[in-house]
Amino acid sequence: TPLSLIRNFSIIAHIDHGKSTLADRMIQACGALTAREMTNQVLDNMELERERGITIKAQTVRLTYPAKDGKTYILNLMDTPGHVDFAYEVSRSLAACEGSLLVVDASQGVEAQTLANVYQAIDANHEIVPVLNKIDLPAAEPERVKAQIEEVIGIDAEDAVEISAKTGINIEGVLEAVVTRLPPPTGEADLPLKAMLVDSWYDAYLGVIILVRIKEGRLKKGARIRMMSSGATHLVDQVGVFAPRMVPVDDLGPGEMGYINAAIKTVADCNVGDTITDDRRPAAEPLSGFKPSIPVVWCGLFPVNADDFDKLRDSLGKLRLNDASFHYEAETSAALGFGFRCGFLGLLHLEIIQERLSREFDLDLIATAPSVVYHLNMNDGTKEDLHNPADMPDPMQIETIEEPWIKATIMVPDEYLGAVLTLCTERRGVQIDLTYVGNRAMAVYRLPLNEVVFDFYDRLKSLTRGYASFDYQMDGYEESDLVRISILVNQEPVDALSFIAHRSAAESRGRAICARLKDLIPRQLFKIAIQAAIGARVIARETIGALSKDVTAKCYGGDISRKRKLLEKQKEGKKRMRQFGKVEIPQSAFLAALKMD
Ligand code: GTP
Repeated sequence: TPLSLIRNFSIIAHIDHGKSTLADRMIQACGALTAREMTNQVLDNMELERERGITIKAQTVRLTYPAKDGKTYILNLMDTPGHVDFAYEVSRSLAACEGSLLVVDASQGVEAQTLANVYQAIDANHEIVPVLNKIDLPAAEPERVKAQIEEVIGIDAEDAVEISAKTGINIEGVLEAVVTRLPPPTGEADLPLKAMLVDSWYDAYLGVIILVRIKEGRLKKGARIRMMSSGATHLVDQVGVFAPRMVPVDDLGPGEMGYINAAIKTVADCNVGDTITDDRRPAAEPLSGFKPSIPVVWCGLFPVNADDFDKLRDSLGKLRLNDASFHYEAETSAALGFGFRCGFLGLLHLEIIQERLSREFDLDLIATAPSVVYHLNMNDGTKEDLHNPADMPDPMQIETIEEPWIKATIMVPDEYLGAVLTLCTERRGVQIDLTYVGNRAMAVYRLPLNEVVFDFYDRLKSLTRGYASFDYQMDGYEESDLVRISILVNQEPVDALSFIAHRSAAESRGRAICARLKDLIPRQLFKIAIQAAIGARVIARETIGALSKDVTAKCYGGDISRKRKLLEKQKEGKKRMRQFGKVEIPQSAFLAALKMD
């Protein structure tokens, strides 16, 4: 295919503005799938994505579109996630395309992630076509939203395409805009191969699959490829495109997107952002890669059943292949045994990985409290990164502790602004800016990340009935008066529950956690003391009274099968508990205890 007939584009939008629905419509309009094959939201194919109705992985699909100019175009569409935690996936998709469709809900207008994503697209030198979606809704105000796009983002919105992805109005208009308003890719077929490794994942039948975007040269079946970062070479077994099912082709040329399967065994050989070249005729220079992602939230993941350790390591390796923004390293905990310290881009990301581990890999896990990365300046002049509160050295050896800050942009209807400002202040936020975009306030705050990590987003959503939108970027480290709070259960410290907080909040948070643990830990046959302490100083205490009765006592004289059932249930419950000294703590307590009110 000549380059002039290829268009590579992403769809970017704020969450729920209709990206995936539009992608489905475009697939349908290009006849890539018959109506029967067209299950709802083809691209959101992870079970979890469907359930939550959000896009997690960026997806790609190749379409054939006969345009009004009489020519047939190849359109490579990349769907991208909208949630703030998945910004990294967005940046990768953008690097593989020349243009973006900016979808904005015409009844909602510009939101925080509309801005964040569109700035990324502008940084990636994309041509941008605004698309106003949901014009079928009575509340749609396309003219107002066009003015808003011009005012806030500063791009021309006069020719924005007005559509309804749901009812299918004007999908043709979007396809024509892609062909006429977005630029074709560039690249030379005769140059040595340069292909960008955009994504990779593990397929149960084929093994490792790599998604590539060819920048220069040709990638053929049977060729020996070389990964430029590691020098590893592999024989290409299969080359293909997503149409949207995997369809093998002979080769891929410049500007094209597709997949390769090269019987790669080692996950470590596939670094997203790497340049793939031809081993016999290598390129001199690699492409400039993506910015490596830096995890901002860490937590420990431990198998409930110690025998599952190897399985957990294996599963993490497969997940990592599928998600380059996820990091992990081995860790041991006094209380929880062998596990892994895992790094995430945010709390939703953490939840998603945990859920995928339990669903896709059938693993029962205990997660410890999420923590941000602190910088420790030690008395002897050395510096340390602290990923895990349990590893905090003796405070006497620490000169200063620095914590990460973020710059957050929150957009919210005027009537909820007061509640949002109060929340930010409670979380040690410092206001930088407060402006209005139409009748929505846009507040810019600096906040310590550690105050945002647990439940800021949940609180923001509930305080504003879901109307607030939130986006953030890292904004440096600052020295702060931080202390480690340990939680003791019957005098034994539970390392997995210790956490770091600002001194001013230590006592109230310690008290809240003890109170919550009192409700979360079931009564046992003896009295349990729960304490929070800073060093040796106890700052809060709760007591759980002893349970005297046998659970089966109430079945006395009852039928035996019921009694057995009850005992079995008890056994089942035990699996999800951890023993601390004599005390058993349910898995749910570990995360729940640390959510703040
Ligand atoms: P993420 O993948 O989570 O980032 O969201 P998304 O932007 O892909 O949104 P999605 O396509 O899942 O649509 C969100 C909701 O809006 C769904 O309930 C859709 O049915 C609905 N929706 C999408 N397009 C339209 C439209 O044109 N009109 C109306 N009324 N609803 C729409």
